[in-house]
Amino acid sequence: MRRPPALGCCRAALAPCPGRCARGAGLALALLALLALLLLLPAAQRRLGLELSRTPTRLQAPRAPTTEAPELVTRSPRPTPVPSLPPSLGDAYGRDETYRSSECPSSIRKRIAATEFGAAFLATVPVLQWAQHAREEEYRRLRRYAGAHGWKNVGWDVLKASLSLLNTSASGLLADSRQASAPCVRCAVVGNGGILNGSRMGPAIDAHHHVFRVNGAITAGFERDVGNRTSFYVFSTNTMMNSLSSYAADGFKHPPQTPETRYVFLPDHDRDYLLLRAALTRQRVDRGRDKGAWPQDYFGQDLRAEKFRMLHPDFIRYLRNRFLRADILATPLWPLYRPSTGAVMLLAAIHTCDEVSAFGFMTPGYRAYSDHYFDRRHKQVQFFANHDLKLEMQLWQRLQRSGLLRLYTGTERP
Ligand SMILES: *[C@@H]1O[C@H](CO)[C@@H](O)[C@H](O)[C@H]1NC(C)=O
Ligand SMILES: *[C@@H]1O[C@H](CO)[C@@H](O)[C@H](O)[C@H]1NC(C)=O
Ligand SMILES: *[C@@H]1O[C@H](CO)[C@@H](O)[C@H](O)[C@H]1NC(C)=O
Repeated sequence: MRRPPALGCCRAALAPCPGRCARGAGLALALLALLALLLLLPAAQRRLGLELSRTPTRLQAPRAPTTEAPELVTRSPRPTPVPSLPPSLGDAYGRDETYRSSECPSSIRKRIAATEFGAAFLATVPVLQWAQHAREEEYRRLRRYAGAHGWKNVGWDVLKASLSLLNTSASGLLADSRQASAPCVRCAVVGNGGILNGSRMGPAIDAHHHVFRVNGAITAGFERDVGNRTSFYVFSTNTMMNSLSSYAADGFKHPPQTPETRYVFLPDHDRDYLLLRAALTRQRVDRGRDKGAWPQDYFGQDLRAEKFRMLHPDFIRYLRNRFLRADILATPLWPLYRPSTGAVMLLAAIHTCDEVSAFGFMTPGYRAYSDHYFDRRHKQVQFFANHDLKLEMQLWQRLQRSGLLRLYTGTERP
């Protein structure tokens, strides 16, 4: 089993005491470590850009439903690949048939059943959320899960007002329309990894039907290596704001703003719902951490509902539970964790495109490259407790071996 480097003690103490480990001592160590972490947390939170339960409870409307909903959804008929999953992780999801049919004979969805991911994959897991999900029974179901995994940190009034604005025919599909001439939709998913520096992959990336980018996606000046198109910009409000401050000096002034660009929120806080509502009503953000922010500064002048998408919390929870189930989930620190924004982007492509090529994602040779392709000088890849980049790297390798992903590996042996 893999162990998170800093948390080995907690994990050992929580599991039935193995080998020579003394149960009492292990537990004491774990509690000490947890205490130290909790004390450090406010500082650590700022540094990591973590957003815990900052949401003031007064944001919850008085009429917010208060009873837990019964399980309205069906569980997977297949045995779950993670039988020991605690009920708190919520391995039951809504249903969405949107992506069941593809005219492509060799689509990922047709091939995945025969791979090691066949049991983890759910064909009907909702990928996006929009107006039809703004229902009280859905709120009762999803308010059990915090952060990106549910609606616990979002008041019903904000949620309803925000999601109701995503009411166009485009809101439920990532891409507005399929390429008429091609039955198979080919996607390039571009991470920001230093492996792209000097890669000359730009034209190959831009030649795909859709190009996905994430967070501090700078293209100006790097077109030869990363291309210049952006069909989907994937972000959470928190990661976008952090990127704007961290990478301003590298040239990141705002997310890509081309006519084809669609903005795909990975909501992990009420900030996301507030910013979406501000954009679709052409107003400043009216409360919370981003109060006063102009949506035009991020997304440009075209703020039609067709320009925006929002990932469904069921999808993020499903990815965490079934594809990126990190060891930290077995420790008391589990609420800190979610799959990284880049990982969610790549897995969203795997679930919605017929063919996926990934560029700028972490490979086993990552130490040879800078953290980002746009770094002015070499920076080591940074690891934080809220993501598990090494687990994600292993997943890309497995998807590659299963033939579901073409991963750019530069000059490394495939
Ligand atoms: C979508 O919502 C907006 C704002 O409430 C409304 O003006 C518009 O008519 C709605 N469109 C559809 C297709 O329901
Ligand atoms: C990308 O580059 C091509 C070729 O130089 C150019 O025709 C196109 O307009 C550019 N697209 C964007 C979005 O900048
Ligand atoms: C990017 O590649 C160039 C050419 O190989 C190299 O000189 C430069 O140091 C690299 N940048 C970073 C940040 O590693």
